[in-house]
Amino acid sequence: MSPLVILIRMLRHTTVLCLFLISTLAIAQAPYVAPTDTAVASKLERWKDLKFGLLMHWGPYSQWGVVESWSICPEDEDWCKRRPEHGATYNEYVKNYEALQTTFNPVKFDPDKWAKAAKDAGMKYVVFTTKHHDGFCMFDTKTTDYRITSPQTPFHNSPRANVTKEIFTAFRTQGLWTGAYFSKPDWHSPDYWWPYFPPKDRSVNYLPTKHPERWQAFKDHTYAQIEELMTGYGPVDILWLDGGWVRPLSTIDTSVSWQKAITIEQDIDMPRIATMARKHQPGLLVVDRTVGGEYENYVTPEGHVPDADLGVPWETCMPMGTSWSWVPNEQYKTTDEIIRTLVSVVTRGGSLLLNVAPGPDGQLDSTAYVRLKEVGEWLKVNGEAVYGTRASKYNAPAASLGASESSKTTKGGKEQHFMYIFLDGSATEIRMDMHALRGKTEVKLLGSTSPLKVQKTVDTGVVQIPADPGSARVRVLRISARLPIGMKKL
Ligand code: GLC
Repeated sequence: MSPLVILIRMLRHTTVLCLFLISTLAIAQAPYVAPTDTAVASKLERWKDLKFGLLMHWGPYSQWGVVESWSICPEDEDWCKRRPEHGATYNEYVKNYEALQTTFNPVKFDPDKWAKAAKDAGMKYVVFTTKHHDGFCMFDTKTTDYRITSPQTPFHNSPRANVTKEIFTAFRTQGLWTGAYFSKPDWHSPDYWWPYFPPKDRSVNYLPTKHPERWQAFKDHTYAQIEELMTGYGPVDILWLDGGWVRPLSTIDTSVSWQKAITIEQDIDMPRIATMARKHQPGLLVVDRTVGGEYENYVTPEGHVPDADLGVPWETCMPMGTSWSWVPNEQYKTTDEIIRTLVSVVTRGGSLLLNVAPGPDGQLDSTAYVRLKEVGEWLKVNGEAVYGTRASKYNAPAASLGASESSKTTKGGKEQHFMYIFLDGSATEIRMDMHALRGKTEVKLLGSTSPLKVQKTVDTGVVQIPADPGSARVRVLRISARLPIGMKKL
């Protein structure tokens, strides 16, 4: 082989190797980074105990009963189609969409009622859309007129016009934690969608590298809005940042289809934002969704429950109906579906952030209240198997819906271990794959006072489940033991 051919072959191999390395680097998503700030770490541990929260999407878009914000995004997606009656052309549509501000007057807004319903439902925290991608601020910002308290918005006359403040106060009064949903992109800001160019897709519509002053102005705008939220609204527990395409380009995970389409550097300077936010709100949880790294204190699978514990703190967000925002004639999930979703989340070690959307007048649909009440009734009996638990380290019995566990030290200083086995309403017998129920154990159904008999063989425990003709709901079998429960480890 001639030296030239050898050289060409070597070069070819190096190129292939380089391309391979570049592509593997490009799809390497930033891993989860546990917080080192002890205030954040301890808050995160307490957050993991809460398990069940309320997400609310609300804004002027609720008047049209359309998807939140997305219909003004010029991407051709079936789920954010523009209806012709709202404007014949794109520009006309956006004009009409933004004019929704001038008719938004949710006079029946009653956050105390929402907060009581959430509390009775067993929810422990709220996350409210202070600003969605469309840029409309549901708080009293000084940065823009496109806000709920602007003289252009009829609701500004209400003593409750600063709705974010009212909501946070009402929920806090009921003992719930507060979270600010905040979208990093802002489709109303001239520094994100510069009116000089038409918007092309969800991203910034100019090159921040070519127009750094404009991008800096956008960074400052975002920083200022978040600072307002972190200073004028009492203690905030969670900063829930949506719009994951606003991020350093190097963190893009090209194995995710929507991320693959993001080609513009949109680094918003999260270290600066998070440092400021935590200066005002020590221990604040920051959830920079989908970005990975140190500002995503927990991860947020959307609309589905992962097949197994993710091994890092996580929360599924899911609408109670079919849409994040209010739509007419919403089809709500049944109470049973909601409970089973909560059960699958809890047995896999996560939390459920269930979305309920207020309508244009500021009321929740009556069906939503019924669901909340019924879930609450179930949790009053079975909440012990939910709050403060972790995914069980042991195999749950095959016929069950899964298991959670917790431990505590009794007043007398004795360790007590609990395993909660979630059962289908129709379950009649449960066979536990136990090596032994060692020491003093007790097995009972939550909500009943009498313990159940366990027929033990060498490595199996069989419990007959008394029929409960009154309800087909999930029931929970609790095993309490002095020694760690000896099921087979996963
Ligand atoms: C999705 C939607 C967004 C919504 C969010 C809630 O990212 O695009 O509109 O706010 O889910 O989790």
